[in-house]
This record gives sequence, structure tokens and C-alpha cells, in this order.
Amino acid sequence: MVRLGIIGLGGMGNLHTQALASVRGCTVTAGVDVLRKARADYAEKHPDVALYADHKAMLKDGGVDAVLICTPTLSHKEIAVDALRSGRPVLTEKPMARTVADCRRMIDAADKANQVLMVAHCRRFDKNWGRFAQIVAQGKLGRPLLWRSVAAGTGPGAWFMDDREGGGPLLDGAVHNYDFANLMFGEPDTVVSSAISLTNRSAVDTASAVVRYKSGDQLMMSWAWGPRGEGAHDVMGPKGTLLFGPGDLKPAGDGNEYAYLRIWPNGKEQKLVRFRYSSMDMYIEEDRHFIACITAGKPCLAPGTESMKAVAVAEAVLKAGVKGGVRKVAW
Ligand SMILES: NC(=O)c1ccc[n+]([C@@H]2O[C@H](COP(=O)([O-])OP(=O)(O)OC[C@H]3O[C@@H](n4cnc5c(N)ncnc54)[C@H](O)[C@@H]3O)[C@@H](O)[C@H]2O)c1
Repeated sequence: MVRLGIIGLGGMGNLHTQALASVRGCTVTAGVDVLRKARADYAEKHPDVALYADHKAMLKDGGVDAVLICTPTLSHKEIAVDALRSGRPVLTEKPMARTVADCRRMIDAADKANQVLMVAHCRRFDKNWGRFAQIVAQGKLGRPLLWRSVAAGTGPGAWFMDDREGGGPLLDGAVHNYDFANLMFGEPDTVVSSAISLTNRSAVDTASAVVRYKSGDQLMMSWAWGPRGEGAHDVMGPKGTLLFGPGDLKPAGDGNEYAYLRIWPNGKEQKLVRFRYSSMDMYIEEDRHFIACITAGKPCLAPGTESMKAVAVAEAVLKAGVKGGVRKVAW
């Protein structure tokens, strides 16, 4: 039985606790949060979990075999390095870290400790995005591909919109797309981007970017946190177009969640794929995979070495967005 310590008991710390209840072979034995209120709220729901105000105290006590990091992004590096040095495998929330330099330090620590360093890129475990990747891999849309992704919303507040702590949506939100595009398209090469400021937060709140891949594929992204707006994804290739994401085709009164993929092969008649979908499943699959990596030596499907490349795309997008020009993606 793997004893887990969850560091950061806010939104994601609680969500992982819920997901882990469906994963065999592990149990949450400890939790850490710097905020007394977060610890008290967690203790009410999980009275058997030992709680700490500092991750170092939890690591020293020795009651955990592995850790999940669910703290604001800036702190991922320090906590991960401490946990890895103590000999514990780490699953850290995305983005892996605030900078590529921090990602590199985490990877070095994992190499030295010979421990698993996995990043919680939940979309790699999402059935809906998985089908989209499958259609692409089967060549149904042809190559090269343009994935257009637009997201907008009032977004989370607090540290997420602080440039140093969270980096704003072009890191925190869009990192899901960078990572998934890297998975499908291969090595990212260059970026053009333009930022515009629609709020008075220190992080870039809105930007539009094109990421060019060595394969010839492209990702076009536009993310905004501040104004209200709508989102959409489509993927266009010479042989067809795919539209995916949450749909509006749910029968009235049906409480289930569905995923929708609309495909126009050869620009002709639309094919609709609809299937039952629970957004919680990707977190359960992700946590299950982490436990399998630790206990059964499964090759990690979301290793730090891959996740660092998504942070590198974010750095290029943010630099090009503010200063202009074409930026090389470097890690
Ligand atoms: N995969 C996803 O779908 C998804 C969604 C939202 C957030 N995230 C990521 O998860 C991470 C956490 O986000 P969240 O929404 O849970 O944030 P949150 O603000 O809800 O919770 C963070 C918690 O960490 C605590 N904390 C801060 N510094 C700490 C430290 N040094 N040690 C211990 N606790 C500390 C805070 O008090 C807070 O309770 C971020 O990296 C974020 O980008 C991922």
C-alpha cells in the first residue's frame, strides 16, 4: 500500500483526494497546507489524515512513500526537489514549474535520486482528447495540421494572475494545449505571439500565439482570463476537419456529461461521435498511472522531461507576446 502525502489542500489537493479514493494500492496518510483554514476544512472531511503546515516536517516524519504537489506553481520546484532528495517519487500538478530553469533542477533531482517525476498533465489521460489524438494519429485529417484553440473566461484569481507565482493563462491554462500539441506534433520549434492587457493584473492576461512544430504542424492559441468569452477547438488538415470539446447536443433533462467530436472527412458530410464522459475520469486515470509507475515500474506517460518542453513553449509565447518577434522554443 503506497502511503501518499498531498501538499497543497486547495482545489486540486481536494480533487486528487477524491480521485485517489477510486485507485487501488494507495492511501492518503498526510496532507500539508500553509493555511490553517485549509487544514481545518480538510481535517473535517478526512479526520484520519495527519496534517502539517510545512512539507519538510511531513517528509521528516516518514509517514509517506510518495507525494502529490498541488501548490501554486512557483513553489513546485522547491517542494519537488525536497521530496525527491528524501527518496520519494513525485506527481506534481501542471505547469511543472514557473520556468524552464526550475524544471531542469527538478529533473536533475529526480535523476540523482532515481525516482519517478511525473507531471499531472491530465489531458494525456482524458478520453475525449485521447480520441482526438487517435484520429490525428490514424491520419484521418492528413498532414500538416492546424489546431486552433480559443479559450476565454473570468479565470481563477489570486496567485494564478500573479506573474511570478502563476504566470497567467498563457502558462497556467494553455500549458495543457502546449503539452498535448507536443505529444501529437513532436518537437516545438518557433513561436510568434502578441499579448494585450485587458486587466490590471501583473501576469499577461490575454495573448494569441502560433507555435510552429518541426513536423510542419501548427498550434494556434488564444487565451484570455479576465473578460468573459467562449472557447472552441478545431483541427484542420488537408483531408478533413475535426471539431471537439463540450457540446450543446445533450438531451434535455439528461444529467450525464458527454463528449462530442464532429468530423468532416474530405470537407463532406459531418460524422458525429458522441460518448458518455466524466471529466473526473482523467484525474483518476492519471493518479492510477502514477501508482502503477511507482509500484509496477510502468514507463511514465507524463514525465518531467516532456513537461519541461511545454513550459518552454509558454516562455517563448510570453516573451514574444510582450516583446514581439519570432522566438525559438528552448529548453
Ligand atoms: N490539472 C488541472 O486541471 C488543474 C486545475 C486547476 C489548477 N491546477 C494546478 O494545480 C496547482 C494548485 O492549484 P489549485 O487550483 O489547487 O490552487 P489553490 O489556490 O486552490 O490551492 C493551493 C493551496 O496550496 C496552499 N499552499 C501555498 N503554498 C504552499 C506551500 N508552500 N506548502 C503547502 N501548501 C501551500 C495554499 O494555501 C492553497 O490551499 C497549480 O499548479 C495549478 O496550476 C491544475
